Amino acid sequence: MKTTFKVKRYDPQTDEEARFQEFELEVPQGATLLDCVNLIKWTLDGTLSYRMSCRSAICGSCAMKVNGHARLTCKTQAADVVKNNTVVLEPLGNMKVIKDLVVDLEPFWEKVEKITPWLINSDPVSPDEERLQSPEDFHKIDAASTCIMCAACYSDCSTTEVDKKYLGPNALAKAQRFVCDTRDKKQKERMTELSKGTGIWDCTHCGECSERCPTDAKPLARITEMREVALNTGHLDNNGARHAKAFVESIGKSGRLNENELPVKSVGMFNLPGLMEITPVGIRMVLKGKNPPIIHHSIEKMPEVKKIFKDFEEPK
Ligand code: FES
Repeated sequence: MKTTFKVKRYDPQTDEEARFQEFELEVPQGATLLDCVNLIKWTLDGTLSYRMSCRSAICGSCAMKVNGHARLTCKTQAADVVKNNTVVLEPLGNMKVIKDLVVDLEPFWEKVEKITPWLINSDPVSPDEERLQSPEDFHKIDAASTCIMCAACYSDCSTTEVDKKYLGPNALAKAQRFVCDTRDKKQKERMTELSKGTGIWDCTHCGECSERCPTDAKPLARITEMREVALNTGHLDNNGARHAKAFVESIGKSGRLNENELPVKSVGMFNLPGLMEITPVGIRMVLKGKNPPIIHHSIEKMPEVKKIFKDFEEPK
């Protein structure tokens, strides 16, 4: 299959800005996208830069944007992504481009370091023993432990795009692997850190991270699990936990989200600096006619909503 590969190129030594270069390639049957990129480099242009190593979806180094979304190229069949005989390849997003398809992963790794990515347990154990865990307990961290650090989730995370301090889906998925590890002794301290701004509550649930994740790590699901841990372990004095509580209260009371109350309850009714911070947004909404109705009405089928809440509260 004759295919045009539009590859984003950038050489900081010669280019003022990035540009696309087209390569025509006969895609061999059964070739992965990484096979194609290798063929471009080996037969058409040896100056093309990108990362790769294992070619087996293990090392996590070959992720790049394919037709606008991050993918692990060695795990992607080229035939599956050819559209109108074309494939567009770009470097991962949310990171600075070093050259062509190679990005600077430093901020990504710095965030992983911030979550203390190792087991903390100072209980004495003989050097001949292991810290054993039941299969059930391992199951709680099994998904997160499949992460290969490819940064596909980080590349396409919409929160990271607007807030560079946000820990990001990858570091948070890695955090869940330790928060929910029954052998770790610092769950409380970990949750205190992760409940702060830039942590678990800053995710906006766009779902891109899980969509782009090539393994079972699925960061959004791991973030949701940690939110549950945070609420169950009393980490309630923060905007995120208050927001979740106010959200549930509002739906439970009227079946609708009371968008006038929600921001106030989220920052805290007596949190004056917080309230002052959100006031300009409120004023702008009023001026643009985007403010929700002042009088909040309940939906018609409230008894049904109440029944759902009751079922949740009293599981059978
Ligand atoms: S080359 Fe190792 S994951 Fe693709």
